[in-house]
Amino acid sequence: MEKFKGIFIAGLISIFFISCNEKKENTEAKPGDVAKENADYADLAKTPPMGWNSWNPFGKNVSEQVIRETADAMAATGLKDVGFRYIVIDDIWQGGRDSSTGLLYPDSARFPSGIKALADYVHSKGLKFGIYSDAGTLTCGDRPGSYGYEEKDAKLFAEWGVDFLKYDYCYCNDYASENNDYKMAMERYKKMGDALKSTGRPILFSICEWGPRSPWLWGKEVGGHMWRTSYDVHDIWDLPRNESSPIGIVTSIDVVSNLDRFTGPGGWNDPDMLVVGLNNTGFIKGGGCNDIEYRTQMSMWCMLAAPLMVGCDIRNMNETTKEILLNKDLVAIDQDSLGKQGIRVLRKDGMEVWKKPLSGNRFAIAFFNRNSTSKSITTEFKSIELDSAAHYNVYDVWKHKPLGASNGTLSASLQSHECQVFVLSPAGPPTDFTKNKRMGEQQE
Ligand code: GLA
Repeated sequence: MEKFKGIFIAGLISIFFISCNEKKENTEAKPGDVAKENADYADLAKTPPMGWNSWNPFGKNVSEQVIRETADAMAATGLKDVGFRYIVIDDIWQGGRDSSTGLLYPDSARFPSGIKALADYVHSKGLKFGIYSDAGTLTCGDRPGSYGYEEKDAKLFAEWGVDFLKYDYCYCNDYASENNDYKMAMERYKKMGDALKSTGRPILFSICEWGPRSPWLWGKEVGGHMWRTSYDVHDIWDLPRNESSPIGIVTSIDVVSNLDRFTGPGGWNDPDMLVVGLNNTGFIKGGGCNDIEYRTQMSMWCMLAAPLMVGCDIRNMNETTKEILLNKDLVAIDQDSLGKQGIRVLRKDGMEVWKKPLSGNRFAIAFFNRNSTSKSITTEFKSIELDSAAHYNVYDVWKHKPLGASNGTLSASLQSHECQVFVLSPAGPPTDFTKNKRMGEQQE
């Protein structure tokens, strides 16, 4: 009997080792293993990408000095520790395209050391480096686009050490009729997506088509890791239009609000960069937002599982801007491994409640007051699509403190345009109901 037992255990051990080896073999990429390479490529954006982009604060005045100092600030301010990684140079870095070699070159006055040296510097800070181009003949800022040069440009970007490409859609419309326009967009983005993959360097591909050709339907298929869902968000709370740039924060939220089923690990809806901290000093205009409105943009972008691309001058942030961008509790909601976009579960009298499922059977709940006056709200669990029999511990993400347990209702008082965010974690059934405080009440 002992002998059989020994054989049985030895058998189990060898099955364990064989299956471990099999697993190991399955996860190792073999050259030419396209499925595996594509899986690695998708792994570039398991959670919404986080970084900084030059356009909102600097526009055409971006320079290597700005990028170097921004990389320093990313590390020094703590943004890097919170998870911000990519430093992306947007449009108007280009000096032109060499007519004999066909190679892009940077503007020599603003980038005298060249792009490779700059990428090396960014990498030396433990950060990743991004750049911008366009699927048309010219970029939106009238610099050379990548149309017809996709492979050449992708190869050059890889040689420079680029980790992220934002790819715009200006100067593309002349080739297609209204009806097949989206097909042309797919073709052009796929061309660059394939070119990036074939470099062998993992380069995150950010599609910037702005939404008219529904990139959420085909973005992942053409190799994209994120796709803009609307036109450019300017430094303004509400500018209600979406047929062209610019728009305000609120319009961008409304456009993306119906697209939750298209986002998730590997490919993300992108409601555009953050305007938090611009305070009407940026290259993009709009008149500015107040601190409550900037807080709300950050809250809602995290509820939406949006890519978080900071769009202010992080070398000179005031205390409020730091408090907003360094809110780890909020960023954790954005970066939650489930990768779910929050949905609007209640809308009444200008008040909204949003719900985002989180890992560990938790939820993020956001109360959002769109009114120009203060308002209070109390909701039953049931009316915001929570199990009415559940008991939750409630954590206030802006105050960074637990508020105690709640078994049936949630309430909040909000100033105009304010958004308050709470994380609800399952609590065991309370043993003594008299001690079960309502949210917001003091704990003993
Ligand atoms: C477009 C994009 C912006 C920015 C500019 C640069 O408008 O949507 O985000 O990249 O081009 O020219």
